Amino acid sequence: MSQNLKKIAVFTSGGDAPGMNAALRAVVRSAHYNGLDCFGIRDGFNGLISGDIIEMTPRSVKNIINLGGTILRSARSEEFRTPLGREKAFHNCQEKGIEALVCIGGDGSFTGSKIFGEEFGLKIIGIPGTIDNDIFGTDNTIGFDTALNTAMEAIDKIRDTAVSHSRIFFVEVMGRDAGFIALHCGIASGATDILIPEMKDSRESLFGSIKKANERGKNSCIIVVAEGEELGNVVELAKITEKEFPEASVRFAVLGHIQRGGNPSCADRVLASRLGNAAIDGLLAGKSMCMAGIRANQIIYTPFEEAIQNHNEINTDLLKVAEVLAI
Ligand code: F6P
Repeated sequence: MSQNLKKIAVFTSGGDAPGMNAALRAVVRSAHYNGLDCFGIRDGFNGLISGDIIEMTPRSVKNIINLGGTILRSARSEEFRTPLGREKAFHNCQEKGIEALVCIGGDGSFTGSKIFGEEFGLKIIGIPGTIDNDIFGTDNTIGFDTALNTAMEAIDKIRDTAVSHSRIFFVEVMGRDAGFIALHCGIASGATDILIPEMKDSRESLFGSIKKANERGKNSCIIVVAEGEELGNVVELAKITEKEFPEASVRFAVLGHIQRGGNPSCADRVLASRLGNAAIDGLLAGKSMCMAGIRANQIIYTPFEEAIQNHNEINTDLLKVAEVLAI
């Protein structure tokens, strides 16, 4: 056990995700349960540099488990990329006597944490908080399940109007350069086709899916497109489809940042609570420079370099399921 740990701090970094507040709550309460003092750093690494650091008690995180976003706010910090910025950050840690950090964010945040921890000898544990689900070392990232439900419910609404007007609808979902949101909500929404950056898509295969749907008597199509899709964005795809099928009525929708908000799902709250607690257990066990994750329902700790360098693999079996069920 790491007996000499006394003061830690927690912050949220990168794109916010539903469930980050549940994770914050779990970190703060697990810290106090184990006799640690806990600080909260506002605005991610920027707050560490500016010294926007507040004490957090179990009461500081009351009534937030159900809230989307992050009460500590988040940011992407250019200054933290500079040695001077990190020096200011470390000085502020020293001022408060902070010996360890818990970083709730994505791989960009873990990269910054790894550099910072190595430069100044701080203990740091990461918690995977991003809707993209693209982080190696955990089956699911915090926010992914909620974003899936948000996107699915939006696509269900689009289906209503697509069917009513016999339209081909292209729907763009988030995920940066990963296709997890598109793949899962595409299956859940009964999409005719799902376009993700992990697969080599072509105009021919896209038009083939639409032709097949037509031949099978379908009067409308929903095509879910990951924002990182290389064949094109939904505006471009709608244009080329209108050219290929001049008699068809084609529209598109970009779901955008609604996928980042909303009350976290039960699954995300439980995941966040488990990982927040695991982060403190890890620090107390002397772990550092690693990310707490859950694989096959077991808590695991993955070194930052592995979590950063590798990517979660897309389950291509799911693509096959989507193709079969689109018959
Ligand atoms: O990483 C989460 C994410 O929502 C991505 O899916 C998306 O591409 C990006 O953040 C958007 O970034 P921003 O909020 O800075 O526009």
